[in-house]
Amino acid sequence: MALTPTTVTPQSIQQAADLLHQGELVAFPTETVYGLGADASNPEAVGKIFAAKGRPADHPLIVHIASAAQLSDWTEEVPESALQLAKAFWPGPLTIILNKKACVPLAVTGGQNTVGLRVPANPVALQLLQAFGGGVAAPSANRFGRISPTLAEHVAEELNDSVACILDGGACSVGVESTIIDLSDGQPTILRPGRITRSQLKAVLKTDIGLSSQTKIRAPGMMAVHYAPNTMALLCPAETLISMIDELCAEGKQIGVLAFSTEIANLPCLNILQLPDQAEHYEAALYSAMRELDNLALDSILIEQPPNNEAWAAVNDRLEKATV
Ligand code: TXA
Ligand code: MG
Repeated sequence: MALTPTTVTPQSIQQAADLLHQGELVAFPTETVYGLGADASNPEAVGKIFAAKGRPADHPLIVHIASAAQLSDWTEEVPESALQLAKAFWPGPLTIILNKKACVPLAVTGGQNTVGLRVPANPVALQLLQAFGGGVAAPSANRFGRISPTLAEHVAEELNDSVACILDGGACSVGVESTIIDLSDGQPTILRPGRITRSQLKAVLKTDIGLSSQTKIRAPGMMAVHYAPNTMALLCPAETLISMIDELCAEGKQIGVLAFSTEIANLPCLNILQLPDQAEHYEAALYSAMRELDNLALDSILIEQPPNNEAWAAVNDRLEKATV
């Protein structure tokens, strides 16, 4: 059964917090993407997340908390580096991986002895966390491996009535998932690029920051195919994109195009969506645009390759994972 998103009011936030206490699932907006939340201290409730998403049980979840003051509920020793990053970037789109306290359920951490923690900046998320009081374990509120939701309607489209409530906070302002930094051992390492860049992290920690190697810690966001549309998607540099469009159209193929250059957006093709040419605005529009094209049941989606620099790191990471 399709779910209707709930308008945010102080009452609906309190109801959502009550549902979390009762072990139910609540989808809620964050500034990155919508999350599918459960009481992180309740393994049975957390189990419902995996069932609703069709997600393998060994994939860890991020625990959302209302403030950095709650870090000590989840980790025995809060490293200075975590406090520095929290001060600089929380509330905001940064997840910090730390060694977990013994009481943190393994259901949340996918059996690992580390836990991912984040204070989100979206006011609805913060109000929910404050009303709830504890940690809310929440992955992105999509079926496993699919495009993350940036609107409440996207959540309603994908998840059924295993979710007790979807709080409708409108469009997510950041639009791609948080940057994940692992501080669980001596070497800070980025496990997933996001809006907060490696340079920004480096400027605060004043130390070099590694980039994830697939072997270090298992993070599903690091798997080759993730964030994928159903339609086959291809990434092409602007130079070859125009001839690809011609070729595929000549073969009678139904194609969709995601472009940011005006020269491509103005080509005579029915399904071209022009995204902004600034990385931050592109990020905010990307998942909705992908979903829109995916829903047209086309033969393929061509995506113009963005520049290869730090500002575009999160976009490039997601596009590589969404394409063949
Ligand atoms: O922006 C976000 O991070 C969103 C919103 C809802 O907060 N959440 C999100 O969750 O993207 P999810 O589950 O789709 O991705 C979480 C990522 C996964 O790649 C997971 O493996 C990684 O975080 N992660 C969580 N805990 C971890 C841990 N202890 N060690 C390594 N990776 C971890
Ligand atoms: Mg996800």
